[in-house]
Amino acid sequence: MKHVITLNELRDALDSLPRPLGFVPTMGYLHEGHMSLVRRAAEESASVVASIYANPTQFAPDEDLDTYPRDIPRDKAMLKEAGVDVVWIPTTEIMYPEGYQTWVTVEVVTQPLEGARRPTHFRGVSTVVAKLFNAVRPDKAFFGQKDAQQAVVVKRMTQDLSYPIEIVVCPIEREEDGLAMSSRNTYLNEEEHQAALSLSQGLKLAQTAFQSGERDADALRQIVIDRVNAEELTDLQYVSCAHPSTLEELEGDVETCLISMAVFVGQTRLIDNIVL
Ligand code: PAJ
Repeated sequence: MKHVITLNELRDALDSLPRPLGFVPTMGYLHEGHMSLVRRAAEESASVVASIYANPTQFAPDEDLDTYPRDIPRDKAMLKEAGVDVVWIPTTEIMYPEGYQTWVTVEVVTQPLEGARRPTHFRGVSTVVAKLFNAVRPDKAFFGQKDAQQAVVVKRMTQDLSYPIEIVVCPIEREEDGLAMSSRNTYLNEEEHQAALSLSQGLKLAQTAFQSGERDADALRQIVIDRVNAEELTDLQYVSCAHPSTLEELEGDVETCLISMAVFVGQTRLIDNIVL
């Protein structure tokens, strides 16, 4: 596996890679969720490029950029083991040189849900993903359903900017106890981890109700709200029942929906979702 930093090093490394080229962008501190994307990329492509970059522009000033967990040697070992051909680990001087002032904004699907609580987040995500796409020029790029709105935003941007890239969205990887894998889970102590199980358990309860015929958006939201609020250490930010591709909030009976939520468990903000 080649480790490249600069755009020139990346360009040279890409020259010799057979196509189709699969690309997995990450912010590092890799876990099985990331690795499921890498494995899928390896299955579906002749070469795989991964990037590791904790993109500062998608973190608000009061968010956890400074404490975001990092372990580049471990990440590199995991990517090498999984058969990645090139890992690109750019610096902020490379991604956002002095005087940087150009942004990609996706307008409508960034407004609700995460966008409503993190108003500058998706501008940072779409800008960095566009820059990563421009540099790597992959045939396919792999994203996780864990960040459901991000996947919708990236798909929209890819279509709107005419990138010749297929966006593949991979299912959420969970711990055995149901907790959706996240680099931020490392912030949780044992008690908080237990309380955090209410997210996936709430979603499961909503799924069971849906399978038994419950179709009312309010009722489905309430099932999740009640399960999360039953825990003392949780502070629910939102539960949404929205259209899976437009992300419009739904009322009344639904045929299909994305139930998604954000919850503070102690100081840690967690998200989870399910498509019914
Ligand atoms: P990061 O949080 O490191 O996640 C990288 C990719 O892994 C994303 O596509 C995310 O949805 C996916 N992922 C994370 N946890 C997962 C899980 N439990 N199951 C399946 N997939 C999972 O998302 C980002 O980085 C950044 O916003 C990025 C796209 C790299 C742009 O900076």
